[in-house]
Amino acid sequence: MTQSTPSPEEVQQQAGKILAQVAGYVGVRTMDIGLRLGLFEAIAKHERGITPEALAKKKGVDPFYTQVWCRAAYASEVLELTGDGTYRLAPHMDKLLLDHDFPGYVGALPGIVLQPEMFDRFAEHLPSGQRIWWDQCSPDWIRMVSGTARPFYTRVIPGGLSRIPGLSDRLADGARVLDLACGAGVGLLKLAQAFPNCSLVGVDGDAYSLELVAERLKQEGLQGRVSLIQSTLEQFDASEEYDAALINVSMHECRDIEKVTANVHRALKPDGHFVISDFPFPESTEGCRTVPARVMCGIQFFEALIDDQLLPTQAYVDLLNKYGFRNVGSFDLTPVHAVTYGQK
Ligand SMILES: C[S@@+](CC[C@H](N)C(=O)[O-])C[C@H]1O[C@@H](n2cnc3c(N)ncnc32)[C@H](O)[C@@H]1O
Repeated sequence: MTQSTPSPEEVQQQAGKILAQVAGYVGVRTMDIGLRLGLFEAIAKHERGITPEALAKKKGVDPFYTQVWCRAAYASEVLELTGDGTYRLAPHMDKLLLDHDFPGYVGALPGIVLQPEMFDRFAEHLPSGQRIWWDQCSPDWIRMVSGTARPFYTRVIPGGLSRIPGLSDRLADGARVLDLACGAGVGLLKLAQAFPNCSLVGVDGDAYSLELVAERLKQEGLQGRVSLIQSTLEQFDASEEYDAALINVSMHECRDIEKVTANVHRALKPDGHFVISDFPFPESTEGCRTVPARVMCGIQFFEALIDDQLLPTQAYVDLLNKYGFRNVGSFDLTPVHAVTYGQK
């Protein structure tokens, strides 16, 4: 069988698909350098722009290198050129890259995708299929995951929770609330701030993450309102003690998601709410060619390493229905963030 010769245009178009991604990688590296070395932060202080020379002087770094970095950041559209040869942040980059409490904050992403846990360890373990768990991840990784997950908590507390019928009033009145797989504690702090009458319990299987939370609680003087339990969610054993349970970007990680759902159901008081805040992975492989889905396909490398995968929202809806939750519903907060909820 003879294959028709592709036209040069067709080949060029296919090459463009590869090169666009290499250009994206250049952008990621450029953003990572600017974030790590505080270049964006310094530029943000100059709304009308700053020359590479002045920026280099301010940061005490090499002017020639700074010029090369500024040009690359301009090429990646995170900086703008003003008419007089100075650079300033492109619109909204201050919020998107630098403001950790902005709901759309994505400034932790360039750094996290460059960590070895994201791709290198996957490649290393690809032949053997060896899996790892959180206790084999570096402190940097745990800190960066917490930074990446932070806007998910920001969107849910209190905005996302207020869309779940009856929940905000219950929390405002004072409730006992679980933050399951609480990680480094961002959610517990945000819950404590938004709902001052609530008492909170954070559960996580990873000892190092809980040490970070304990430190933060001490700094904020919140030890009296928040307690911590080290346990896997599969082994978590409480009965009818809690008014609400939240789990942020972690439900997909449970190795026995059915057991965890049964445990949460048992831990809730009658009418208690269960809120799953997670990534909405596409239902089909064909749905993976959007920008949000491509980012989620990247996250799947780490998830595979810890023996799980992100799931479509429908999987959580089905799970809550299967385990006897009532008033089950879901909504999207962004293209990478969905909330699924139900009541005991
Ligand atoms: C992606 S991090 C998210 C942490 C936190 N919820 C946040 O959003 O910052 C996942 C966390 O879930 C914990 N975890 C994963 N599977 C778990 C399980 N089966 N039982 C208890 N903790 C678990 C990990 O130790 C880690 O702290």
